[in-house]
Amino acid sequence: MAAKTVSSLIRSITTRLSSVGIDDSGIDARLLVRHAFGWSAEQQLGRLTDPAPVEQLELLESLVSRRVGREPLQYITGSAEFYRRRFSVDPRVLIPRPETEQLVVQAIEFVRERGIETPRVADICTGSGAVAISLALEMPAAEVVATDISAGALYVARQNAGSLGAEVGFFEGDLLDPLLDDRGRIDVIVSNPPYILRGAMQGLQAEVAREPSLALDGGDDGLDVIRPLFVGIRAALKPGWSAAYIEIDPPIAEGVFDLAKGEFPDASISLLTDLAGLTRCLAVENG
Ligand SMILES: C[S@@+](CC[C@H](N)C(=O)[O-])C[C@H]1O[C@@H](n2cnc3c(N)ncnc32)[C@H](O)[C@@H]1O
Repeated sequence: MAAKTVSSLIRSITTRLSSVGIDDSGIDARLLVRHAFGWSAEQQLGRLTDPAPVEQLELLESLVSRRVGREPLQYITGSAEFYRRRFSVDPRVLIPRPETEQLVVQAIEFVRERGIETPRVADICTGSGAVAISLALEMPAAEVVATDISAGALYVARQNAGSLGAEVGFFEGDLLDPLLDDRGRIDVIVSNPPYILRGAMQGLQAEVAREPSLALDGGDDGLDVIRPLFVGIRAALKPGWSAAYIEIDPPIAEGVFDLAKGEFPDASISLLTDLAGLTRCLAVENG
């Protein structure tokens, strides 16, 4: 890289990233430079007109090449922000998305509105643990448990809980199977299960295709994991005031809604939209 100043270095990286179709190439270029040089945003701003430090240029080049190869930025930097906190991420886990923060908001609101003092909360398909850990930190009186079928994902989740100081019980296994002792005892269940239609898996954005297919593939109708998830939720929820919030996306919303109506005949079922107005969450509320 022949760039002389930090700002011209950023400009040349931006050009390389946008030439392979990366949308937010300017933002990614700044973040990669910051990561390579170990700078905060403020430090980077203060050095834009300085000569770029030569020591880290080789490292920076390797980071930029990975991004040019469409590796997600968060896997390259090793972290992603979720609900105001930074979580470690790597290819063993889905990168937590801003829209999934809605699960945290819904669970907190339900617990507050119903005045449940020591809620038992379960996050099924926890991945990086972002949802479970956020809930444990936002509701210190809650007892939070979480499951995932992937041992690799749970390793990352436990690391995140340790570094963020959250108490969460993580269990490896299929959906709610590891929580058999909790049948009829859980106040709130949240889950962001795999729900992408199998037919859409081939057309995923290059970066998304780098994430674990176990985290994405929902089968032919997107409901392969959601069907048994509903059966487990029905058995695990406490009688009386209790709720489940499941992340979905528009193509499966109608199918999920109909399935929920059959599975939870006595509950109030609703579809919630995200800040972009997309159908993003199924709510099942009892009591
Ligand atoms: C869409 S990711 C969600 C990760 C995280 N909750 C988030 O929102 O960022 C789905 C997760 O479900 C896990 N998973 C897939 N099938 C499962 C099953 N049958 N039982 C438990 N976890 C499962 C995957 O390993 C993956 O970590």
